[in-house]
Amino acid sequence: MFARERAIENASFWMGAVPYTYKPWAATTPRHKQESPPMLMLRSVSKSFHDGESELQVLRDIDLHLGTSDSIALLGASGCGKSTLLQIAAGLEQPDHGEVQVLGRPLSELGERDLALLRRRHLGFVFQQFNLLPGLDVRDNVLFQRRLNRLPEQDDWTAELYDVLGLGPLLDRPVEVLSGGQQQRVAIARALAHHPELVFADEPTGNLHDTLSRQVMGLLARLVDESGCSLLLVTHNRAMAAFSRRRLLLEGGKLHEQD
Ligand SMILES: Nc1ncnc2c1ncn2[C@@H]1O[C@H](COP(=O)(O)OP(=O)(O)O)[C@@H](O)[C@H]1O
Ligand SMILES: [Mg+2]
Repeated sequence: MFARERAIENASFWMGAVPYTYKPWAATTPRHKQESPPMLMLRSVSKSFHDGESELQVLRDIDLHLGTSDSIALLGASGCGKSTLLQIAAGLEQPDHGEVQVLGRPLSELGERDLALLRRRHLGFVFQQFNLLPGLDVRDNVLFQRRLNRLPEQDDWTAELYDVLGLGPLLDRPVEVLSGGQQQRVAIARALAHHPELVFADEPTGNLHDTLSRQVMGLLARLVDESGCSLLLVTHNRAMAAFSRRRLLLEGGKLHEQD
């Protein structure tokens, strides 16, 4: 199979290539609680990795609650488990124990298809390694999830994303030829283009210069403050951490509140 087809197949798996027609959490949640469901909840989540004889426990009974229009910056040393926590919260990895709820729905109760639909419609994920779709140009990468959701290709929001992230001149370029910083900008636009309600961003400005980092931060802050989006962000950037409503340090497999 060609890389392009394989990438589209993988992306279809992640985002769900069938029309999304219902709100999955509405079926089991009483109407009076549907107004503002907690966007993300982790209860007693644990995760270890095994390497031959040795076991590495990266998450120990983690509890986390992220409300609507809320933001958390996740801090911690390299290798402490931040990316693992994000992947578990987005249903991309399974916890060993514990429960994850996204928009009020326990992920363990969702089949692959419903999980893919939930992600495609409601979640945005900026991967640390970008995970762009090779063989597609910048425009096709950014619009991938919008097209699956049958959103128009252009609106004020896409125009703003292209503008802030400086993607206008790059739209027809294959993503493989881009620099790391350019790929990161595409990854950010792709994660936000479909108006997600819950955004996971894994060191989204790690490859960007200061000015652009601040602009990305402003974009994310506006999403949270004005659009009611919720954000779980891994960052080493102090300004980005400062703009988040809460800062949590992951250390020794546990979360600690920071000032
Ligand atoms: N799939 C995996 N298999 C084995 N070990 C893993 C796997 N994913 C992550 N790890 C290990 O778990 C630890 C935490 O990784 P990660 O979540 O990527 O940390 P961080 O994002 O904080 O740098 C690291 O020691 C990493 O090597
Ligand atoms: Mg990481």
